[in-house]
This record gives sequence, structure tokens and C-alpha cells, in this order.
Amino acid sequence: MGPSLPLFILALISLSRPCLCSYREDPFHFDLRQTCVHDCPTTTTHHHPYSGVSNIWNDLDVMPENMFEFEYDDEIRSRQNNAPAPAGSTVVDVDDFGAKANGSDDSKAFKEAWEFACNTSQGAVMVVPRNKIYHLKPVDFSGPCNSPLTLKIFGTIKATANHSDYRRRQWLYFDNVQNLRVEGGGIINGNGRTWWLNSCKINTTLPCSEAPTAVTFSQCSNLRVARLQIKNSQQMHLSFKKCVDVKVLDLFVIAPGNSPNTDGIHVTGTHNIHIKNCVIRTGDDCISIVSGSQNVRATDITCGPGHGISIGSLGAGNSSAYVSNVIVKRATLSGTANGVRIKTWQGGSGYAKNIEFQDIMVHNVSNPIIIDQYYCDHHKSPCSKQVSAVQVSNIVYKNIRGTSASNVALKFNCSQMYPCREIFLQNVAITSSQEDKEEHIAEASCSNIRLSYRGNVSPPC
Ligand SMILES: *[C@@H]1O[C@H](CO)[C@@H](O)[C@H](O)[C@H]1NC(C)=O
Ligand SMILES: *[C@@H]1O[C@H](CO)[C@@H](O)[C@H](O)[C@H]1NC(C)=O
Ligand SMILES: *[C@@H]1O[C@H](CO)[C@@H](O)[C@H](O)[C@H]1NC(C)=O
Ligand SMILES: *[C@@H]1O[C@H](CO)[C@@H](O)[C@H](O)[C@H]1NC(C)=O
Ligand SMILES: *[C@@H]1O[C@H](CO)[C@@H](O)[C@H](O)[C@H]1NC(C)=O
Ligand SMILES: *[C@@H]1O[C@H](CO)[C@@H](O)[C@H](O)[C@H]1NC(C)=O
Ligand SMILES: *[C@@H]1O[C@H](CO)[C@@H](O)[C@H](O)[C@H]1NC(C)=O
Repeated sequence: MGPSLPLFILALISLSRPCLCSYREDPFHFDLRQTCVHDCPTTTTHHHPYSGVSNIWNDLDVMPENMFEFEYDDEIRSRQNNAPAPAGSTVVDVDDFGAKANGSDDSKAFKEAWEFACNTSQGAVMVVPRNKIYHLKPVDFSGPCNSPLTLKIFGTIKATANHSDYRRRQWLYFDNVQNLRVEGGGIINGNGRTWWLNSCKINTTLPCSEAPTAVTFSQCSNLRVARLQIKNSQQMHLSFKKCVDVKVLDLFVIAPGNSPNTDGIHVTGTHNIHIKNCVIRTGDDCISIVSGSQNVRATDITCGPGHGISIGSLGAGNSSAYVSNVIVKRATLSGTANGVRIKTWQGGSGYAKNIEFQDIMVHNVSNPIIIDQYYCDHHKSPCSKQVSAVQVSNIVYKNIRGTSASNVALKFNCSQMYPCREIFLQNVAITSSQEDKEEHIAEASCSNIRLSYRGNVSPPC
């Protein structure tokens, strides 16, 4: 089945939803500049009785299965295109290229081993031996390669702490590689302490500057990253940038809860990515999904500490941003600043649409469910009031339960001119984590949002 049917269903949903404002809406032509024709409510507190929206939900129930065509059969695909290097493949051990793992710099050996492995035509397995610690400066692992390549990290790779070794914002940089696997159960250590101490978020007397991302995959296709521990990154741990067909599984990503900007997994401009069975405990977003990303699936994710699972920020500096078709399913967040968040800057344009958060547990999370269209990073310049916004629509929250560390368990602070549309809440039960005290009752704060309920939703708007 082509993608047109789910789109058609979505179009039906948008046509049949209860309407508070009229939009000029051609479902087959997405207009980024839809405006409210009638006065839009500044604050919505309407409860749509379930009976009134049952058709919507019946349609929605079919949606998740059909919506994600890319839920390609991972196993079949990997057998076809990304199988482990065949029996005749060349084993390339970094030690054979002069890596010492004795505290001196092993970058040259890794580069030469990569170039050799990438050049072989029968497939290659590049090996980083176990029980050793290899020290690396920034290294490029560039493609295209002549055949599928597997990088087996059994031991530890540790980053140089000397800031003048970095002339750019990436430490390990995989660029333009097809049919790559990175796995092995070893450790990638960004050794980020000195970067954190130099962050303006830690030492406010210092100017703000960026630190390197530990592992970047740029323009890779048919990529699989599995069974690794990635820790103490300089800034972000793992970034997927302009990649297609990516499988990320069984990762353990860890850094102190107070380490600045140490996002776990960052997805940008990437299509068809499945992040599965990962434990992420860091100082910033557990998973962040930003512009140009579509067909993103995150399942069986454990987060905390950190800032939770985030779509955005989007639309910074008046930019256009586009994120669509995201499913976050079976996630547990503990002690995080946010649970599931969508954040956009004022002045942006574009959209964040067709997003589903399902089967989410929150434990003592400060903002369990949040859409913030007034996001502003106060460490940069203050944000002035602006009219335009990234349009947020067709967002499903289904089976979300647990406890909130703040009284505001649900927060929808949407744009006045571009209210959040087609927000669906089904079976949401969030209580205050201090509900024993009378003044702590979970509540919802809802501005400029058009939503529908099904099942029990507590607290309601
Ligand atoms: C590591 O081994 C290399 C080559 O044997 C040697 O030149 C270097 O001094 C050693 N470094 C340390 C820190 O021991
Ligand atoms: C790549 O492989 C070809 C053919 O085996 C060889 O001639 C060439 O020198 C290799 N290049 C590198 C950089 O290893
Ligand atoms: C850091 O690296 C720079 C240039 O790469 C070098 O000159 C300097 O000696 C290094 N510092 C330390 C402490 O190793
Ligand atoms: C913050 O940075 C300044 C300037 O480098 C330095 O003098 C000061 O000791 C730092 N403070 C802390 C707490 O590290
Ligand atoms: C964004 O647009 C607003 C309104 O047009 C303008 O005042 C502001 O300077 C712009 N900001 C940037 C970063 O371009
Ligand atoms: C809940 O979170 C708050 C703020 O993050 C924290 O102060 C409190 O100790 C946490 N409570 C529990 C039971 O973990
Ligand atoms: C929405 O965000 C704006 C800007 O940060 C803030 O002034 C306002 O109080 C927020 N509204 C609610 C209901 O939280």
C-alpha cells in the first residue's frame, strides 16, 4: 500500500475534527501560512465528549499501523543489504596498524586501519580489541567504501582532553558511508569533563561556546549502531545527520545529570530511523529530534536523569523546520525535566506533525507532557514576541501515566496565531509525586490548543 492512504486518513481526521477556528485547509496541499479566520480562543478548556469524536478515534486507531511504512522489516533488510561481512571478509585489527593503547595517541593507526578496511572489496571487519584503552584525537571515518564494513569495538576508545586538538565540532565522524555496522559491546568515552567545566552553563563568567559531538554519522545509509556504551561526551553523545535507513539498538548512553548539553541521541535531517531498546542517562535531552527528520521511531527507551524526549527545538532564528511521522512507544522517564516535549521558537515556520507518544511511564518528571511554542534558551539573547510559529498538529498522547514533580502535569503553551491543532489525549493519568500534600494537585495548563479526549484523561485541560 502506498503512503496515500494514511495521508488520506489524516486528511479525513482534519476535516472531521471539532472546529473552534476555521482554517483554509486543503488537505492535499499543506499550506504553511494557514491563519485563523475567526477569533481564536486564547485559552481552551473545552472537553469534547468522547461520543462526539469517536469517528476520529476509530480512524486514528488504524493510523499507527499504516502510518509508518518505513517500519521496514529490519531483519529482512539487514540480511539483504547489511549482512555481517561475508565469510571471506578481511579482518582489520587496529593493533596491526600500530595502535598501542598505552596512553599515547592512536589516531593515525585508526585512520590507516579504516582506509584499508574501506578499500577492500570483499567486506571488512575492523576490530578494536577488548581490554584495552585507545586514545583518539578527532578522526574522520569517510566513505564511500568498496564493500560493507563492520566496526567491532570490543575495547574502549577514549577522547583526547586537549581542546587544541579539536579544530571542529566532531570527535568521531563517520561521513558518507553506506552499509556500515558499528557494534561490539565496547565503550566510547568522550572524556568530556574539561569541556563541561568550560561551559557557560556551569561557569557563568565564561563566554558560551560549543563543544564537540562525540560520535556523528553524517549522510550514512543502511546503518546499524548496536550494543555499545557511549559515555561522558564533550557535548552531544550521538548524532545522526542526513542519514537514511538507520537502526540504533541496545545502547547505553551515560553522563552526569549536571553535564551541560550532553544530549543522548540527536536526530537531524534523517529519514527512517528506529531507535530501540536504549538506556540514556545524561544532562540534556534523552533523544532530540529536529528539523528535516521524518519516520522516526523510538521504542523501549529508558531515560533519566536528563531533559526527556524532545521534538525540537524547531524554528530558531526565524528558520523553517519540518518534522513528521514520529512514534515514541514504550518509554520510561525518571526524574527528568520533561517527559515528552515539543518545543518551538517564536518566529519560526514549517511544521511538526503526525507525532504519537504511546505507552509512556513518567516517574517524578517536572513537565510530563509539554508543548512549548515559546521556547527560549535564556543563556542566549532574550526572545522578543513574534507572530509566526512552527505549526504543531496531529499529536497523539496515548496511555501515559505516572507522577509529576511539578503541579503542572500537562502543559500546552501554543502560539496565538498558529494554535496547536488535532491534539488527541487518550488514557492519560498523571498525579503529583507529592500528592500527599494538599497543595500539590496535578493540573493542566492549556493555551491556544484544539484537542480531543478519549478514555480517562487526568488532569484534563
Ligand atoms: C606507547 O608506545 C609507543 C611505541 O612503543 C612509545 O613510543 C610511547 O612512548 C608509548 N607511550 C607511553 C605513554 O607509554
Ligand atoms: C585500495 O585497493 C587497491 C586495490 O587493491 C590498491 O591498489 C590501493 O593501493 C588501495 N588503496 C589504499 C589507500 O589502500
Ligand atoms: C595540546 O595540543 C597542542 C596542539 O595540538 C599542543 O601544542 C599542546 O602541547 C597540547 N597540550 C598538552 C597539555 O598536551
Ligand atoms: C570560572 O571561569 C573563570 C575564568 O576562567 C575562572 O577564573 C574561575 O575559577 C571559574 N570558576 C569555577 C568555579 O571554576
Ligand atoms: C526574525 O524576524 C523578526 C520579525 O521580522 C525580526 O525582528 C528579527 O530580527 C528576526 N530574527 C532573526 C534572528 O533574524
Ligand atoms: C522529584 O523531583 C524533584 C525535582 O526534580 C526532587 O527535588 C525530588 O527529590 C524528587 N523526588 C523523588 C521522590 O525522587
Ligand atoms: C507561555 O509562554 C510564555 C512565554 O514564555 C509565558 O509568558 C506564558 O506565561 C506561558 N503561558 C502559560 C500558560 O504557561
